[in-house]
Amino acid sequence: MPNAPVIGTTRPAEVVARENGLTIGNARKLFATPEGGVVKALDGVSLQIRDGEFFVMLGPSGCGKTTLLRAIAGLEVLDSGEIYLGRDRIDSLPAYARPVNTVFQSYALFPHLTVAQNIAFGLQMERLPKPEIAARVEEMMALVRLDGLGGRLPSQLSGGQQQRVALARALAKRPRVLLLDEPLAALDLKLRRGMQDELRRLQRTTGVTFVFVTHDQEEALSLGDRIAVFSNGVPVQVGTAEEIYEQPVNRFVADFIGESNFLAAEINDDGDFRVADGPWRELSEPVLPAMDGTVTLAVRPERLVVDGTAPELVRGALAEVVYMGTDLRIRVSLADGTSLAIRVSPPFEQLHLTPGAEVVVGAEPSHLHPLAGER
Ligand SMILES: Nc1ncnc2c1ncn2[C@@H]1O[C@H](COP(=O)(O)OP(=O)(O)O)[C@@H](O)[C@H]1O
Ligand SMILES: [Mg+2]
Repeated sequence: MPNAPVIGTTRPAEVVARENGLTIGNARKLFATPEGGVVKALDGVSLQIRDGEFFVMLGPSGCGKTTLLRAIAGLEVLDSGEIYLGRDRIDSLPAYARPVNTVFQSYALFPHLTVAQNIAFGLQMERLPKPEIAARVEEMMALVRLDGLGGRLPSQLSGGQQQRVALARALAKRPRVLLLDEPLAALDLKLRRGMQDELRRLQRTTGVTFVFVTHDQEEALSLGDRIAVFSNGVPVQVGTAEEIYEQPVNRFVADFIGESNFLAAEINDDGDFRVADGPWRELSEPVLPAMDGTVTLAVRPERLVVDGTAPELVRGALAEVVYMGTDLRIRVSLADGTSLAIRVSPPFEQLHLTPGAEVVVGAEPSHLHPLAGER
């Protein structure tokens, strides 16, 4: 059966909905707290998710990810804002009428139904002809690689297999958008990695738009075609894994995604900068310093060097060297008490690192990112 019919196509002039994709316009949702206060779960969220995209919403616990997914699914009513699928406004539709399906962390399988019956359930609700249901169930079991297990009960499956049943059940109805709320959080690390590969494959083969929620930055980077980083009910940056990692827009993103050093730098009248009593250097991008003439530079640990292969930034004392196999993790203490994290890739043999010794820390200009609105 084709997707459920979509009604309610009025479009207010102020919202420019795309022809395609999932568009969220200025979504707001407040919750009352038991203490009598209010929480801004969604504080004006606007996003455009493309058709066929693997879109990840990433953020710490409590930033509004689940609320947004539930609003898309029709399980939560927005205080204000609009949600469109293509040209069609869907936020006024009941959940069952939206061509959207959800996979929850808890799987939510019916324990008394077999794998095949679980997958067939939604199709029976839609009153599809029996032969078509049987064919669709077979197709879905093959898709998620559960062939031959159709007669088992969920309790007779591993956690990873149960998650596959939940995916098969959600995809069986051929939704246009699949919403996934931390679906791998209950799996152990190795299984989670395997399921990440599986999810990417499923998304590519079905072409369904995936909107995947996680608080795990590594998972987000490895899965998302694009990632929206959320903080306090709003997406603060949307981009590819590379854009978000290499060009974080603010301290929150730079800190939440991977590891970052934050260096206070002084700016002079020529627009040059220096860190502590390091040499004056040119900035790679123009920056508006704070009133006191300083700026914060974000730099990744793997972009700092201690072997003289990049221009000097600052000198410090070697505080710690930890051998991690794939890299060396070094800490350098600066005169003002700040400590820099540095990561060095092999080969390490040429480095002669004596704790307490002075080291010259260097970085290429393009790897030093001035943070907007910060000093
Ligand atoms: N039904 C509710 N009643 C009251 N507060 C809620 C409710 N649902 C969510 N919240 C609050 O809204 C904020 C966002 O929650 P949520 O969307 O679940 O965040 P996330 O999924 O990112 O962890 C949190 O502060 C949470 O406590
Ligand atoms: Mg959540």
